[in-house]
Amino acid sequence: MKITGNTILITGGTSGIGRALAEAFHDRGNRVIITGRREDLLEQITAGRPGMAGLPLDLADPDSVRRVQAEVQTCFPELNVLIANAGISRAEDMTAETWDASDAQAIIEINIFGVLRVTAAFLPLLKRQQDATIMATSSALAFVPRADFPAYCASKAFLHSWLQSLRHQLSGFPIEVLELSPPYVQTELTGVGQASDPRAMPVDVYLSEVMDLLERKHHARGEVLLERDFARRWAERDGQYDVIFDAMNPAKKRRSP
Ligand SMILES: NC(=O)c1ccc[n+]([C@@H]2O[C@H](COP(=O)([O-])OP(=O)(O)OC[C@H]3O[C@@H](n4cnc5c(N)ncnc54)[C@H](OP(=O)(O)O)[C@@H]3O)[C@@H](O)[C@H]2O)c1
Repeated sequence: MKITGNTILITGGTSGIGRALAEAFHDRGNRVIITGRREDLLEQITAGRPGMAGLPLDLADPDSVRRVQAEVQTCFPELNVLIANAGISRAEDMTAETWDASDAQAIIEINIFGVLRVTAAFLPLLKRQQDATIMATSSALAFVPRADFPAYCASKAFLHSWLQSLRHQLSGFPIEVLELSPPYVQTELTGVGQASDPRAMPVDVYLSEVMDLLERKHHARGEVLLERDFARRWAERDGQYDVIFDAMNPAKKRRSP
């Protein structure tokens, strides 16, 4: 994708990686529309940034997606980049008597249907542009899961597969399809603790690496992936899957029934 002169809509632009992407693209001379449910943050982030706009959006609500699509079509018909970044994450203990798959349902609703809904909503507009990009945020956990986040990791594996099909189907159009697969980054995705977890990468450090990869078009197969995550990406091919899975998921003690 070109780095400047775009009109970009970013879902999940109110915090974390989405907000950092919005600010980085805005700093590089792009018109940026951020979306999210927290309207106070939309106002706070866009204040003092001419060329950045905020639109309230709840991805769980198809009507909300339709409203944003209609507003963008009227006010920003030149939109040429969609960054489907919003997502949620929850740990799930499937051994608990109380486990009822409701968290999995919420994750699938936002991480999968949220991405599909915004893509479906904006694709007609993107197809009319000379040069367009769809980038969706999956995760390095798409390649080897952390078993305590089962539906979350599976939702990102879904995106990894689905984006390949989307890229193939759109190969006759001037629409680039990118997959952003972050490692563990200091945001509040799983709660406030993650934002200060020293094992996670600071957002600004991650973003500067991402912008560098995008600027250099250093993303084979459309995968915007840090070099440190290549081992996980290619674990199966390299015969390292079991070793990496076991390192990420310590063995459980056997319980008696
Ligand atoms: N941080 C990591 O370690 C990491 C690693 C790999 C992948 N990722 C992915 O990166 C993306 C961004 O996450 P983050 O880490 O930056 O966490 P974050 O700060 O919690 O950001 C999540 C964003 O999603 C939005 N969102 C959540 N539910 C929504 C809904 N129903 N409708 C509309 N927007 C919604 C939130 O906005 P509102 O609350 O304002 O709606 C927020 O802006 C996610 O897809 C996540 O899975 C993160």
